[in-house]
Amino acid sequence: MAYCILTIVTINTINKYDKIERKEQVMDHKYIIKGGHPLHGEVVIGGAKNAALGIIAGSLLTDDEVIIENLPDVRDTNVMLEALKEIGASVNRIDSHTVSINAANVEAVSIDDEYIRKIRASYYFIGALLGKYHKACVPLPGGCAIGSRPIDQHIKGFRALGTHIQIRNGCVQAGAGDGLHGAHIYLDVVSVGATINIMLAAVLAEGRTIIENVAKEPHIVDVANFLNSMGANIKGAGTDTIRIRGVKKLHGTTYAVIPDQIEAGTFMCAAAATRGDVLIRNVIPKHLESISAKLLEMGNTIIEYDEAVRVIGREVQRPTDIKTLPYPGFPTDMQPQMSVTLALAKGTSIVTESIFENRFKYVDELARMGSSIKVEGNVSIIDGVETFYGASVNALDLRAGAALVIAGLCAEGFTMVNEIGYIQRGYEHFEKKLQALGAAIELVEDRREAMKFRMRVG
Ligand code: UD1
Repeated sequence: MAYCILTIVTINTINKYDKIERKEQVMDHKYIIKGGHPLHGEVVIGGAKNAALGIIAGSLLTDDEVIIENLPDVRDTNVMLEALKEIGASVNRIDSHTVSINAANVEAVSIDDEYIRKIRASYYFIGALLGKYHKACVPLPGGCAIGSRPIDQHIKGFRALGTHIQIRNGCVQAGAGDGLHGAHIYLDVVSVGATINIMLAAVLAEGRTIIENVAKEPHIVDVANFLNSMGANIKGAGTDTIRIRGVKKLHGTTYAVIPDQIEAGTFMCAAAATRGDVLIRNVIPKHLESISAKLLEMGNTIIEYDEAVRVIGREVQRPTDIKTLPYPGFPTDMQPQMSVTLALAKGTSIVTESIFENRFKYVDELARMGSSIKVEGNVSIIDGVETFYGASVNALDLRAGAALVIAGLCAEGFTMVNEIGYIQRGYEHFEKKLQALGAAIELVEDRREAMKFRMRVG
């Protein structure tokens, strides 16, 4: 197509395939867990993956150097960084959580490889490339198979900004002639991805853009703050309406990503489910309120500090009902982990999944561990059991995988969680952080290594 420029394959891109190949092999790795050890101690939460993904793409919007701090070193962020390199940006790791990006020499607006196709956030390259170069050619996004996940609202926004869009051969091809212009956009569904993507496209558009019915997640605010630190003029992030006054140019910045709400919530559930006592540090307690509220209703103790929360799991926990909603409602990305916690409470809980229609697949895996959960449409009815029993289970997707690890930590005997590459998309050193809290968990390559672990921990 006219606006697709072929990417030049360089030594860098060859190294990229080697590196990602190694990461892909990790998909076959497993966690072996001996349950029954309540978690105790302190854990430090990393940067928010979903904010970082928007910020990495946003670094394309300036020719100056952008330094991103508190960047989680997880598979999804690494795939995004490699994609930036592929189109000619210079990407240098200052340390494991700090990266310097300079997009002055970007030479292609077409991104396509099988790895970028697999991650959801590849769609942010459409908004960023359109914003800067007025054209983009990016594969339709992949990501966890938790529902149909259309991107019609993204496309509606880009079109309103003056972009011509067509889908060809699995790719979104977008072009805006001489440039984008501001527009008044109403989102028909509250979408995190569409909100961030339209912001990325609109910050350099001519005139004023108003986006209504936007998502309010902490990472929306973080991406807006990042863009404002580059000279953008975005107001209202965190409310239902975002107003953007287009600027001519953005400049470089040094920006630290906020802590990850979902990683923190996962450790909160792990502490409660194992009946442990964990201080979860480097968090913004306000972002965790919906999770804290539910754990409190279950009878757990939650103590909030300025940048930490302590969760003390109660021995006999009460059931409660949950409905996933856009922020500040209960996050869909915490539904599996909280469901596992509820599956060990005394009584019946009802969980309604209102964001993604296919997010209960892990229930069949959990049943292999002795849970009692019935799914009817987008509702699950959880009858709490006294304990789980170790089994071999498959991660299936990122958050389902984390939930099954929590189940393994609580189970009698040994649990093997297969296909942990999903978990590594969004959790950095998950097993190491759990080990430091007293969990008996190990990352193993095969059943032989798993057997050695079994013999060692008895
Ligand atoms: C993002 C997160 C994901 C999280 C989700 C909801 C990233 C990379 N992923 O995903 O972890 O679970 O937010 O908090 O940040 N929808 C449409 N049309 C669209 C866009 C969305 O109908 O154009 C629907 C979706 O099918 C879904 C709902 O809107 O039912 C919310 O989706 P959205 O907020 O866009 O999720 P993602 O950005 O895909």
